[in-house]
Amino acid sequence: MNHDVIIALDFPSAQRVYEFLDLFREEKPFVKIGMELFYAEGPDIVRRIKARGHQIFLDLKLHDIPNTVKSAMRVLSKLDVDMVNLHAAGTIDMMRAALEGLTREDGTRPMLLAVTQLTSTSEERMQKELLISASMPDTVKHYARNAQAAGLDGVVCSPLEAALVKEACGPDFATVTPGIRFSDSAADDQRRVMTPERARLGGSDYIVVGRPITQAPDPVAAYRRCVREFL
Ligand code: C5P
Repeated sequence: MNHDVIIALDFPSAQRVYEFLDLFREEKPFVKIGMELFYAEGPDIVRRIKARGHQIFLDLKLHDIPNTVKSAMRVLSKLDVDMVNLHAAGTIDMMRAALEGLTREDGTRPMLLAVTQLTSTSEERMQKELLISASMPDTVKHYARNAQAAGLDGVVCSPLEAALVKEACGPDFATVTPGIRFSDSAADDQRRVMTPERARLGGSDYIVVGRPITQAPDPVAAYRRCVREFL
């Protein structure tokens, strides 16, 4: 299993992204492109960042009928990204269809990850609003097992749930975890956070880090600290 620090490129425009990436002269960090940047700039932003030599996690969280997701994944497979994701709530059929669409003619494909429950959803809301009566840990484990049954490579989850997912699905099933903060930095709007070091000990394979790096006075130093503490 690989391990890495993924920087969340949560910037409103391509211009800001390039200014940020230009700060890195020695390393080529793994980066995450989310909905805001993708919808603002289109697939071209992915091609350009790829051309600069970065690995890319395209975080678009697909969720639709199986046939539509399969077709969309076929389009994404041509973008040469390294990771993409979808919602496990779309069912095993949808996840299997996604995998089919994502697999290129030569048999290669990006890693495919499932979002179990968003970390912004509380157990109370999940139970009262979504009428999922199981506990949050049981729901996360069950969705992770569904993703594994469909043939996916892992899940995006809270670092507090990574150990649970490893226990349910085994060490080779990848865990990608946002909600990372240095011991001496602000939590921002994240409710449940972990340090890079504790995330690694807790079973995270990849950590997704945004503001602690992008808003730091010296982003390169913050990235290096993150790598040092995590790897
Ligand atoms: O700035 P921060 O480190 O909180 O950024 C975390 C990144 O991970 C953001 O891009 C956010 O959208 C994403 N994310 C998250 N929690 C999830 C899924 C994705 O924070 N459950």
